[in-house]
Amino acid sequence: MEYKIKSGHPEKQRSACLVLAVFEDQVMSPSARVIDKHTGGAISLLVKRGDITGECGESMLLPQAEGVPAERILLIGCGNEAGFSNRALQQVTACAIQKLLQSKISQAMLFFPELGIDDRDIASRVEQLVIQADHESYQSDILKSENKKKNIQLQKITLFIPDRKELTAAREALKTGQAIASGVNFARKLGDLPGNICTPSYLAEQAKDMARDFNMKASILNEKAMEKLSMWALLSVSRGSRQPARLIILEHKGGDNKDAPIVLVGKGLTFDAGGISLKPASAMDEMKYDMCGGASVLGAMRAIAEMKLPLNVTAIVPSSENMPDGDANKPGDIVTSMSGQTIEILNTDAEGRLILCDALTYAERYKPATVIDVATLTGACVVALGSHASAVFSNHDPLARELVEAGESSLDRAWVMPLWDEYDKQLNSNFADMANIGGPKAGAVTAACFLARYTKKYDWAHLDIAGTAWLSGEKKGATGRPVRLLCEFLRNRSA
Ligand code: BES
Ligand code: MN
Ligand code: ZN
Repeated sequence: MEYKIKSGHPEKQRSACLVLAVFEDQVMSPSARVIDKHTGGAISLLVKRGDITGECGESMLLPQAEGVPAERILLIGCGNEAGFSNRALQQVTACAIQKLLQSKISQAMLFFPELGIDDRDIASRVEQLVIQADHESYQSDILKSENKKKNIQLQKITLFIPDRKELTAAREALKTGQAIASGVNFARKLGDLPGNICTPSYLAEQAKDMARDFNMKASILNEKAMEKLSMWALLSVSRGSRQPARLIILEHKGGDNKDAPIVLVGKGLTFDAGGISLKPASAMDEMKYDMCGGASVLGAMRAIAEMKLPLNVTAIVPSSENMPDGDANKPGDIVTSMSGQTIEILNTDAEGRLILCDALTYAERYKPATVIDVATLTGACVVALGSHASAVFSNHDPLARELVEAGESSLDRAWVMPLWDEYDKQLNSNFADMANIGGPKAGAVTAACFLARYTKKYDWAHLDIAGTAWLSGEKKGATGRPVRLLCEFLRNRSA
């Protein structure tokens, strides 16, 4: 999608479609009022008659616009004016883009930047508009044959900025928004790719390409290198698969050489069949999304590299498949992790924590300021929080708060869960230092407690994104979460 920023007189704009806001109680946005005047009251007539009530998400396309050079007008209901919020802006942008796509309009001018939101400046509004518009025009059919692809016609969006003095800020925000949108897009694309294409080696190639394009450093460790490091927990998962595991490391050095990096660790399980503790067949295809933690970490790296964020950030993505095989982990097997701690594998489907624990130990060598891991770790997390919030667990309360706030302001929410000793005890094993499962209760918490045993040397947080990384059912597809949360967190850290 091509974006442009423009200012001037609303009534003089040449466009295939002017997208204007109408609120409840017959309130028109400033530009809607101007256009109304120049079109002989075309909008106020509809508003007065109640043909458009201004309810949030409502829309009406006027196929012609006499009196102004634009070809059409699209009215979007924006709810109560006084209550117009970030979330409302997200909703009405999505609605506008959907309507433009359905109507096969190739170019449009959006007047939404003029809509005020409490304590949000023009930059933050423009940024969000761009991210949301890009999100709505994402195409998930890249693997359909040419004639079966939905052909998306919307090619250009111009954002109308009411105040010339704000043009510079708006242009900067457009760039930032596009960088974040590309990061989200990157994560979604990787997520939606099937397991037979998106393998650990494929993920590694993607990271290498990204490093080349954005001036980062990529290092890929193969299984031999991981053996040398004694990453036996990670390697035990990969042993049951024909696809070799990879440990992907990507470094963005935007900060001072001596500054400790923030390390992001992402679960890159490219297909989770469960191993010998095989998953049931229904919806097993969705386990191609088990690499979304890794994809979101790579997506965030792409975004911050494009923004040239003045911060040192290192991404570590342990990547493997989890398959049943004659050489796969068996329930009861005991492995020694890189940290030296031994693990009794009571369920081979609790594999995420096995590949993450070695990556988290590996992270120590970067002497990190903070480590955040992101993983589609537990079905229990989906039960606890559904698809609205990612779960946050942390050994450092201020860090948990930082993440929750970043999630709130980027509309990519997260919610804090406990990491208490009482839960940790559920992992005790008669035969090894710990078991890899903690029984049927509080599965998301015991998974986090498992990781906590490997992160004692630094400030750490764990994001369980099992419920937020993708949607099921008719809207099946990757969401790109929590790329926005991560970007917001990192930008706050660099400020
Ligand atoms: N990748 C899954 C978690 C998952 C399941 C995410 C369903 C989203 C939807 C993970 O590897 C897994 O299988 N976890 C098990 C753990 C259990 C065996 C303790 C689970 O949640 O069932
Ligand atoms: Mn599993
Ligand atoms: Zn998994």
